[in-house]
Amino acid sequence: MRIVLLGAPGAGKGTQCKRIVDRYGVLHLSSGDILRKERSEKTELGKKAQSYMDSGALVPDEIIVAMMSGAIEKAPEAGFVLDGFPRTVNQARELDKSLASNNEQVDIVINLKIDDQVVMDRMTGRRSCPKCGAVYHINNLKPKVEGKCDNDGSELIQRTDDTAEVVAERLKTYHQQTEPVADYYRRNDNVCDINALGDIDQITDLIFKHLDVFAKS
Ligand code: AP5
Repeated sequence: MRIVLLGAPGAGKGTQCKRIVDRYGVLHLSSGDILRKERSEKTELGKKAQSYMDSGALVPDEIIVAMMSGAIEKAPEAGFVLDGFPRTVNQARELDKSLASNNEQVDIVINLKIDDQVVMDRMTGRRSCPKCGAVYHINNLKPKVEGKCDNDGSELIQRTDDTAEVVAERLKTYHQQTEPVADYYRRNDNVCDINALGDIDQITDLIFKHLDVFAKS
């Protein structure tokens, strides 16, 4: 399966992707996680991306498309779930072109819908594991031991772009540049809109319902 997960910052893309991976064995490719790894390793790519990420702007398309195409090529037979990519219509076109060159296409697009006010609460309360990438929330999804990752006991951290000021900028960027991506995919009639305001497990069930139909066909 070649899955694209769309949604505003904090819609729950990372949270749901981890569950999709567990159920369908696809590879989770998060453009944000890949960029953060490059940044922490101080690579040329990471250095170029830093100022864009810190301000809530998008990293230029040519950098992202090259980075994600390389990652997609290494995906296993089971497929992949893209999280945070494509984020502009231009990126979506480039992804289509690159898949078409291997006679492939995006099979299903899950579009998580959420209000801006809720995003602010989710982002400022988010904590993540620097080692395994697990995502928690100080109220909605607490780890078993406060401040520690359930999987490996690492000290949880708050992302530098999860301040109220940067989140407001990221939302602006999302509405201007990423919302049109869902409309771009609608012409293929494979977009599933999902209300991402409910309970995390209920949203997972809804996503699985769509993906199960697809996985069996
Ligand atoms: P990226 O890392 O992709 O950030 P994002 O899209 O803004 O999304 P997030 O990872 O912040 O949120 P999420 O939807 O995964 O939510 P999560 O599951 O964690 O990108 C960062 C930056 O990199 C960008 O700003 C840009 O600069 C650059 N970049 C990345 N990709 C790019 C691209 N393609 N092109 C150009 N630039 C790019 O959930 C959030 C919190 O809410 C968690 O604490 C979670 O526990 C909680 N939560 C989740 N679901 C629920 C629920 N249903 N109810 C209550 N709480 C919930």
